[in-house]
Amino acid sequence: MLPSLSLLLFAVGAAAAVPYQEYILAPSSRTIRPTAVYLRSGSVSSEAALLDSGVSSGGRLTLGAFNSSVTYDFGKNIAGWVNFNTTSDGGSLGVTFSESSLWVSSEACDGTRGIILDAPMVFNITGAGHYAAPTIMERGAFRYLTLVNRGLDSLSIDDLWVHFTAMPHWADDSLQNYTGWFNSNDEKLNRVWYAGAYTLQMVTMDPTRGNAVFYSNATNPDGFYLWWLNTTVANGTSMLTDGAKRDRLAWSADLSVSVPGVAVTTFDLVSARNAFDDIFDFQSADGMLPYGGFPVSLGNAASFTYHVYALIGVWNVYRWSGDQSYIDEKWVQWKAGMEWAVAQIDNTGLANITATFDWLRFGMGGHNIEANTLLFYTLSLGVALARNQNDSTAADRWSQLAAGVQSAAIDLLWQPDVGLFKDNETTTLAPQDGNTWAVKSGLVTNASQVAQISEALQARWGPYGAPAPEAADAISPFISGFELETHFMANRTTAALTLIRNMWADFMLDDPRMTNSTFIEGYSTTGELHYAPYPSISHAHGWSIGPTSSLTTYVGGIQLLSGAGATWAIVPQVGDLTRVDAGFSTSLGGFSSKWSTNGTVFRLEISTPEGTTGIVGLPLPGNHTSATLTGTDLEGVTVTVDESGRYWIEDSAGGDLEITVVGL
Ligand SMILES: *[C@@H]1O[C@H](CO)[C@@H](O)[C@H](O)[C@H]1NC(C)=O
Ligand SMILES: *[C@@H]1O[C@H](CO)[C@@H](O)[C@H](O)[C@H]1NC(C)=O
Ligand SMILES: *[C@@H]1O[C@H](CO)[C@@H](O)[C@H](O)[C@H]1NC(C)=O
Ligand SMILES: *[C@@H]1O[C@H](CO)[C@@H](O)[C@H](O)[C@H]1NC(C)=O
Ligand SMILES: *[C@@H]1O[C@H](CO)[C@@H](O)[C@H](O)[C@H]1NC(C)=O
Ligand SMILES: *[C@@H]1O[C@H](CO)[C@@H](O)[C@H](O)[C@H]1NC(C)=O
Ligand SMILES: *[C@@H]1O[C@H](CO)[C@@H](O)[C@H](O)[C@H]1NC(C)=O
Ligand SMILES: *[C@@H]1O[C@H](CO)[C@@H](O)[C@H](O)[C@H]1NC(C)=O
Ligand SMILES: *[C@@H]1O[C@H](CO)[C@@H](O)[C@H](O)[C@H]1NC(C)=O
Ligand SMILES: *[C@@H]1O[C@H](CO)[C@@H](O)[C@H](O)[C@H]1NC(C)=O
Ligand SMILES: *[C@@H]1O[C@H](CO)[C@@H](O)[C@H](O)[C@H]1NC(C)=O
Ligand SMILES: *[C@@H]1O[C@H](CO)[C@@H](O)[C@H](O)[C@H]1NC(C)=O
Repeated sequence: MLPSLSLLLFAVGAAAAVPYQEYILAPSSRTIRPTAVYLRSGSVSSEAALLDSGVSSGGRLTLGAFNSSVTYDFGKNIAGWVNFNTTSDGGSLGVTFSESSLWVSSEACDGTRGIILDAPMVFNITGAGHYAAPTIMERGAFRYLTLVNRGLDSLSIDDLWVHFTAMPHWADDSLQNYTGWFNSNDEKLNRVWYAGAYTLQMVTMDPTRGNAVFYSNATNPDGFYLWWLNTTVANGTSMLTDGAKRDRLAWSADLSVSVPGVAVTTFDLVSARNAFDDIFDFQSADGMLPYGGFPVSLGNAASFTYHVYALIGVWNVYRWSGDQSYIDEKWVQWKAGMEWAVAQIDNTGLANITATFDWLRFGMGGHNIEANTLLFYTLSLGVALARNQNDSTAADRWSQLAAGVQSAAIDLLWQPDVGLFKDNETTTLAPQDGNTWAVKSGLVTNASQVAQISEALQARWGPYGAPAPEAADAISPFISGFELETHFMANRTTAALTLIRNMWADFMLDDPRMTNSTFIEGYSTTGELHYAPYPSISHAHGWSIGPTSSLTTYVGGIQLLSGAGATWAIVPQVGDLTRVDAGFSTSLGGFSSKWSTNGTVFRLEISTPEGTTGIVGLPLPGNHTSATLTGTDLEGVTVTVDESGRYWIEDSAGGDLEITVVGL
């Protein structure tokens, strides 16, 4: 009896595993070995002995004298400390790193600070045995690792591995322990969702090894930057940063995308809190928040948009965690921050922007539309927070100011003939950022105006994605993530899915210069990989993972209407898909939405925590406008869609619900 009982227990444990675990790119252990040989040069033998598949063979790599090299491919972007064992008594081994195949070289690493590349790591071998990178020589992101013999005798290496350092606060064997999942009939979307989740893990790091940019300009004799990681950029044991290789800093704009992504994948909100604490620790006496966390916070760069992004970020943590003590603790600073922002509003009703630092874009002065739509959004959050804090004076004032921003933006900056807002009164340039935020913020309420913006943005797509003319020739996955939300909010679901497939899957995963695992920070409209002023770009950037939360929120349809999902809406968008299974957990419990359709029948299974309440916005199958519903608590009622194209089930109590909709 006993053996079969333990077998049974094992089977139950396995069934309870994280769903769709096979898609998770995070490693199952922190010890990682290369999966392929990418390049060899000079006299090299038995290079396959160091591959993950060859490690038990007992073989060893031999690199011939001076400059023979081999480049290993880990098959995905990783982070950590390089380790190797040598059987040689002496010599010098150089190690270089690169995220992209574009910068593979035996002379230098891809650059963390601008045009100049980074120096190789050099190990002086003084005897056979194990060598490990010093703590400060952690490399934040690389897919390719090159070993080069810099000595005059041949070198033998019998083991090579990387100790993976991302997600430092999670147990070594729990890196795949996701709380969320996404699966559909479209493999491109599935891969994009999981690459977004893994990107967020890659940018979650030990804050004592932050800042790959602002520390030194020292170079080695070949003119390559010396590098190390030893700036403490936040308190705590983990923090959510912008990029894994660079900058390794707290940037609020980046966090505006990454926090909702974290919430639906790993629910690692503590790393986000540590990053926001770092920014709020440096608030000035007049209420202004710094452009970035430490050490950016010591400079005098002022950014209106990053200021409001920090306010939005704290609200995001509150929304997903439902932690009242968090917002109580932040409220005084939050309110002072909101007051600093509204003090920029002039007699037109719009804010006149003089704190003009932003993401890559230029021309942020005056009545800028991006800044003002962000202000409108933040004011709307502020009204809700002020009510939460029983501050009706602030709620009423902010509500009036929001209405003023809304009407002035439409009066002064809307271009009806173009179907897009202009950047400010002195230009016709229609930016991607301000137009996407005009919809996302709720500033534009007219459905035909929303559709016009979505259509006009789509009309500008090129072969590599959605352009941002406000930043010259850039494609910004950051702003394009907001553009996706614009198309979803316009109910132009297939347009949003097409942009994810073309831009995030076909280009950002599958192009051979990419890592096929994490998302790049930006690139040119020509598909060239430069993002001024950085020729070697960060290939693991949290702000580029917009599709991950969008697929869960709009396609799975799961939306939290109050903290941690005490109230919720499940409103699946079908587009051209036939099957979706999405879910995640908050402190209140699990939320999931699983649906399938064949154009005649639409089936939905949802699960929400007991004690919560919500509404379900059912799409009818195909183009049907009336249907029969059967399922939990329903006995074949006939329904018709309302003007929004859905049938709504109001006041649905938490728990499990199954509904079958048959088109009539
Ligand atoms: C390696 O040896 C060289 C030459 O002796 C020396 O200049 C360098 O500092 C040493 N590097 C390390 C990391 O010990
Ligand atoms: C390499 O060295 C480490 C540490 O000494 C050891 O645990 C490991 O087994 C060695 N690898 C091989 C292939 O001998
Ligand atoms: C994985 O996460 C769950 C909660 O989501 C937790 O109960 C479990 O202990 C974690 N497992 C590991 C190995 O960390
Ligand atoms: C590095 O060089 C840049 C550009 O010349 C300069 O702005 C910066 O202050 C320098 N940093 C340090 C730490 O010297
Ligand atoms: C960081 O490392 C560099 C290079 O080793 C060293 O010069 C510097 O003093 C270190 N800084 C801190 C804060 O430890
Ligand atoms: C760490 O916390 C202390 C105390 O709140 C604060 O003074 C300091 O600025 C924080 N450090 C960083 C890098 O945020
Ligand atoms: C107005 O917008 C244009 C286009 O982005 C820009 O060139 C210009 O500098 C902006 N004006 C101000 C005052 O920033
Ligand atoms: C914004 O304020 C600046 C500085 O006071 C001023 O020069 C500029 O004319 C103002 N812009 C607008 C559009 O009012
Ligand atoms: C999109 O659909 C939702 C749900 O049916 C509806 O509430 C909303 O008004 C629609 N938006 C637009 C711009 O048509
Ligand atoms: C990219 O990764 C996926 C798994 O996520 C794999 O199936 C595919 O073969 C990889 N593509 C390349 C070109 O390596
Ligand atoms: C859709 O599925 C239903 C139930 O399985 C089936 O009766 C119907 O024929 C299917 N319709 C189409 C168009 O495949
Ligand atoms: C719904 O109608 C549109 C427009 O007429 C058509 O292109 C589409 O194929 C129809 N979809 C289904 C599932 O019948």
